[in-house]
Amino acid sequence: MPVIETKDGSNTLYVQEIDECYHSTFGAIQESEHIFIGSGLNFCTKNNISVLEIGFGTGLNAFLTMIETEKSNKIIDYQTIELYPITTSQAKELNYCDFLGNKALFAELHSCEWNKRLKINDCFYFTKIKSDFSVIEKIPNFDVCFFDAFSPEKQYEMWTENRFELLFEHADNGAVLTTYCAKGQVRRNMQQAGFIVERLSGPVGGKREILRATKTLNRHKNQDNMSCV
Ligand SMILES: C[S@@+](CC[C@H](N)C(=O)[O-])C[C@H]1O[C@@H](n2cnc3c(N)ncnc32)[C@H](O)[C@@H]1O
Repeated sequence: MPVIETKDGSNTLYVQEIDECYHSTFGAIQESEHIFIGSGLNFCTKNNISVLEIGFGTGLNAFLTMIETEKSNKIIDYQTIELYPITTSQAKELNYCDFLGNKALFAELHSCEWNKRLKINDCFYFTKIKSDFSVIEKIPNFDVCFFDAFSPEKQYEMWTENRFELLFEHADNGAVLTTYCAKGQVRRNMQQAGFIVERLSGPVGGKREILRATKTLNRHKNQDNMSCV
């Protein structure tokens, strides 16, 4: 897969078969920080946070989360689902450590064993789950979900009401899910699954809007979840 430089200088990967990149070409680090760290992780007020990521890919979201955690007193249990991992040599071509340091830790996220919970440091526990999210029936419970699949135009099976129902069932009370995609059908699928969905502004120069879905206490599936949008 060719490595592309995005507008903030950080890399992404381009997938020729579906003509899509792993990140926004306006800035991979900028996009991940805005959508997943700023609007998702930092929105959660708990001290022990379970993060579930859909699509580990380059490992950028996990890497940023690990770095963010070092600045706080929080403990993160990070679990990520990926069906088509990139190779460790592809991971070495990515330039995230030029911006974020921690070269050995970034390499470890890629080289570590699959389907095994590992302690990366005192505040970051990490599990890579090799599985197909489009058909999986059991996923870990979470406080924060980074929903980072390829777009619904290219992989609609990842964005169906049934997939958001699965996520809703495994979301703890107050859990949030963020994603870069703000399409109406995706938002409606989340709402049908039971989430309250907000449209937030997107990263500078990139998508105009992103979505944050919340599982709110005392609400039930199929109640009116349109009030926040
Ligand atoms: C937009 S990219 C991921 C970006 C990733 N979070 C990152 O920062 O690089 C989507 C990811 O979903 C993975 N993927 C595609 N189909 C999948 C499936 N059925 N189950 C799990 N992961 C899948 C791809 O291999 C890719 O790594």
